[in-house]
Amino acid sequence: MSKHILFFDSGVGGLSVLEETRRLNPYYCYSYLFDNHCFPYGELSEAALLKRVATLLDAAAARLAPNLVVIACNTASTIVLPVLRRHLSVPVVGVVPAIKPAAKLSANRHIGLLATPGTVKRTYTEALINEFAADCRIEFLGSTRLVELAEMKLAGESLDYRREVTEIVKPWSTLSSLDCVVLGCTHFPLLKEEVTQALGGRVSCVDSGEAIARRVASLLPDASSSAVSPILHAYATKAVDQRLVERGLAKYGFNHIQLFN
Ligand code: DGL
Repeated sequence: MSKHILFFDSGVGGLSVLEETRRLNPYYCYSYLFDNHCFPYGELSEAALLKRVATLLDAAAARLAPNLVVIACNTASTIVLPVLRRHLSVPVVGVVPAIKPAAKLSANRHIGLLATPGTVKRTYTEALINEFAADCRIEFLGSTRLVELAEMKLAGESLDYRREVTEIVKPWSTLSSLDCVVLGCTHFPLLKEEVTQALGGRVSCVDSGEAIARRVASLLPDASSSAVSPILHAYATKAVDQRLVERGLAKYGFNHIQLFN
């Protein structure tokens, strides 16, 4: 029997992490739960977010019985991991901003953190920076609009995404020594091309997807390689627009979304 991994996010962003994990571990059975009812998480208070995610994940772990949970959301992980690890009996892997790899990569020691308004002001984020990038100059940009754009892009909505993204990262456009951007929200790899182009192609964008895939593989090393095809289930906390399912989620193998409440 394949191991079962539950991915969790507020919206479609966690799919970028799930994709990386699946590439490395194609024979696991995957579930994806997204809390679209409380989207966007970047606008919630820390107390509200903690309560919401802890309650939802307790219920999800009990009902879906995963072998491992991935909190594929920086905004949530930077606040809920200690509580979830106390509550759940299975390993919990959290996605947090890729500050450490960015510090290794930045030749100019000048890094941009692009994340949600919640993540950029977290104590957890500050601690990551102090630990791994203390010698770097850090720019912070928190944007919920960018999260919404990623949702719209995946749903196939037509919009001038390049123009919108250029406007959002405009405060960084004159920072010529900025050479590395941390995509500190799992929605943002969906707009990586637009972000890179908006900054004139002079920055490297880093995210945590690959590191998470390796972490999952190290924690659940015995996946059967004889499974015929992976089993995928998706759950949302409120009804999902059919266009998002057909044009977006289906690309990741999720053709049907069940209501989870
Ligand atoms: N995808 C999420 C993250 O990594 C949160 C986006 C949101 O709901 O604000 O932070």
